[in-house]
Amino acid sequence: MKRSSLGLFLLMILAACSNQDTAMNSVVANLYPDQASVGFKQFSKQCSSCHRPPMPNQHTDLEWAGVIALMQQHRAQAGYGAMSDDIKQQVLQYLQKHSQQGESS
Ligand code: HEC
Repeated sequence: MKRSSLGLFLLMILAACSNQDTAMNSVVANLYPDQASVGFKQFSKQCSSCHRPPMPNQHTDLEWAGVIALMQQHRAQAGYGAMSDDIKQQVLQYLQKHSQQGESS
């Protein structure tokens, strides 16, 4: 009895989360810049496993370099494996091209 109500509770949470995700994705999907680029494709692939990919204008060039290094560690810790240098560069270039500095100056 206890077990099944816990199961139901978890299911409800899961359902709530996935609904929210779909709604979020459909709203946010149109807002990322330069979606046809290779950089964006790598970015959305490498950065969506653990959380919603961040908006590039959320950080400056310098900050992005730090965030990418930190995310490499998260990937390794979570068993995803680090990004190759090529892929890391593509993601970083995409983020920096549309970063806070890039847009405001
Ligand atoms: C293996 C899981 C994982 C992947 C893949 C991942 N992240 Fe994260 N990310 C995290 C975790 C965990 C946090 C929260 C803890 C922290 O901030 O270090 C986080 C937080 C962040 C933050 C918020 C922190 C801040 O300084 O604003 C940003 C931005 C971010 N990630 C960007 C990225 C980008 C860009 C990528 C793709 C290169 C990426 N993440 C891929 C796990 C991941």
